[in-house]
Amino acid sequence: MTTLTAAPVAPLLDRLFAAAAAEASPRTSPAFAALSAEEGDRLLRSKQDYRALYAALADFALPVSPATGRLLYMLARATHARTIVEFGTSFGLSTIHLAAALRDNGGGQLITTEFERPKIERARANLAEARLVDLVAFREGDALATLAADLPATIDLVLLDGAKALYGDVLDLLEPRLRAGAVIVADNVDHCPDYQARVRSGGGYLSLPFGDDVELSVRLG
Ligand SMILES: C[S@@+](CC[C@H](N)C(=O)[O-])C[C@H]1O[C@@H](n2cnc3c(N)ncnc32)[C@H](O)[C@@H]1O
Repeated sequence: MTTLTAAPVAPLLDRLFAAAAAEASPRTSPAFAALSAEEGDRLLRSKQDYRALYAALADFALPVSPATGRLLYMLARATHARTIVEFGTSFGLSTIHLAAALRDNGGGQLITTEFERPKIERARANLAEARLVDLVAFREGDALATLAADLPATIDLVLLDGAKALYGDVLDLLEPRLRAGAVIVADNVDHCPDYQARVRSGGGYLSLPFGDDVELSVRLG
C-alpha cells in the first residue's frame, strides 16, 4: 500500500473528487452567466484581470483530474522529489497527491500558494484530514509575490495550476532553482500558448503534451 491508496487519503480523495464533480459548472455561475464566451476566454488569458476571475470562482474546487492527480504522485515518486512548488492550491486536491508522494519518499517540503484565503483554510483542513499537513507550507497571496523569495535551494517538481497567463512568469521565478531533471507539470495549457511554445522550443526543457490538456516538461542540465 502507499499513502495515496490507503486510508485516510484514498477515501478522502474519493469524497473530494465526487464533491467537485457534483458542482455546477463554473460557466453556469451567475458571475459567468453574464459573460460571452469571448470575454471568458479573454479573462482566462489576461495578465491583468485574473484576480477578479478567480474571486468569482472562489466557491469552486477546479481540481486537476483524478488521472492528473495520480500522474503527479507517480512523477514525484519516480523522481524521488523532496522539494515541490505548487502554483494554485484551491481546495488542495493536487496538494494531497503531491504531499502523499513526499511522505512515501521519506519526507520533504511542499510550498503551495493561493490568494483566496477561504480556499487556503479549506485546503489546510483537507491536508490535516489526510494527515499530510506537516509537509505543506501554505503561502497566501499572489504567486508573483509569494514565490519571489524564500525558495528552497533546489526544486524537484513544480505544478503550474493557477492563472493561466502567469505560467511563464512563475516559471521565471522558479527556474534558477530547478535541479537538472526537475519535472514541471502544467495543467490546462490550451490557455497558455506562450508557455507551451517556450518549454517546447528546446531552451532548456524537453516537453510534450500528456493526457487531457497537460504539458509535461523536464528541465535539462
Ligand atoms: C485550477 S485551481 C487549482 C486547483 C488545484 N491545483 C487542485 O488540483 O486542487 C487554480 C487556483 O489558483 C488560484 N490562483 C490563480 N491565480 C493565482 C495567483 N496569481 N496567485 C495565487 N493563487 C492563484 C485560484 O484562486 C484557484 O484557486
